[in-house]
Amino acid sequence: MTKACVIGWPIAHSRSPLIHTYWLKALGIDGTYTKVPVEPQGIEAFLRSLADRGLAGCNVTVPHKEAAFRTADEKHASAVAVGAANTLWLEGGRLHAANTDTYGFMTYLASRAPRWQQRDAPVSILGAGGAARAIVYGFLEAGVSQVRVFNRSRNRAEDLARHFGSKVSVYDWSERSTGSRDASVLVNTTSVGMKNDGTLGVDVRVLHRDCVVADIVYVPLQTGLLRDAAAAGLTTVDGLGMLLHQAVPGFERWFGQRPTVTNDLYKLIAADVEAS
Ligand code: ATR
Repeated sequence: MTKACVIGWPIAHSRSPLIHTYWLKALGIDGTYTKVPVEPQGIEAFLRSLADRGLAGCNVTVPHKEAAFRTADEKHASAVAVGAANTLWLEGGRLHAANTDTYGFMTYLASRAPRWQQRDAPVSILGAGGAARAIVYGFLEAGVSQVRVFNRSRNRAEDLARHFGSKVSVYDWSERSTGSRDASVLVNTTSVGMKNDGTLGVDVRVLHRDCVVADIVYVPLQTGLLRDAAAAGLTTVDGLGMLLHQAVPGFERWFGQRPTVTNDLYKLIAADVEAS
């Protein structure tokens, strides 16, 4: 039997076991995927004990993503770009680390809005934390020539821009609407709107009619930003799809088969989110 898990602190809220257990069952694989609470001071010891615990690998969530990256023996390009890892596995006795948030976001964006790149236009990113880094990296990899970052604390946006170079420019938080007029995609990577806490204050009426509006927040599924954007006739991309797609590469590493993000799976996790 193959075993994997997700670790975090706290971890009770994680939907990853539901996702992976769905795939294990659908594919008839003899395996388990559980959640394990790991305190911040215990992260390195836990990762060093994967083999002893009989684990093929694990997902890592808040607040361990940076520590997991530092601990890994082999850091894949996706993790190096972000400076954080969410997917770890053992290979030849060495601990490998990747970041699949970029893959998850870009894959779902392409499936929901396949024409997002039809105009050669800038992309607007709200926020400058770890999630923003993963998504900025995805857009740069996709060949976007200008990424604009708007963050409440400007210095964090400046750090991010320095990390990625001249294609990333920093704007004031107060410019998040006007500075996004010509954007092809606008993405909220901040926690604003989670559990309907606060509003982003983006005036979606100023956005180009082809602008795709994405939110990485998935509780609620339809955030205030997405609701406003849909009401204005814009294409929207919710945060749940990113969560589902980021899980695919890890599952394939640990259990040896590439799973599919089906409508059934989407509905299962959406129902769990809506019940929370
Ligand atoms: P993650 O790694 O998930 O991206 P994070 O590093 O804690 O999480 O980043 C959270 C992001 O949400 C930051 O960009 C943060 O802005 P600051 O850098 O100014 O803290 C943003 N954020 C959180 N609460 C916010 C609020 N009320 N208004 C605007 N931005 C907010």
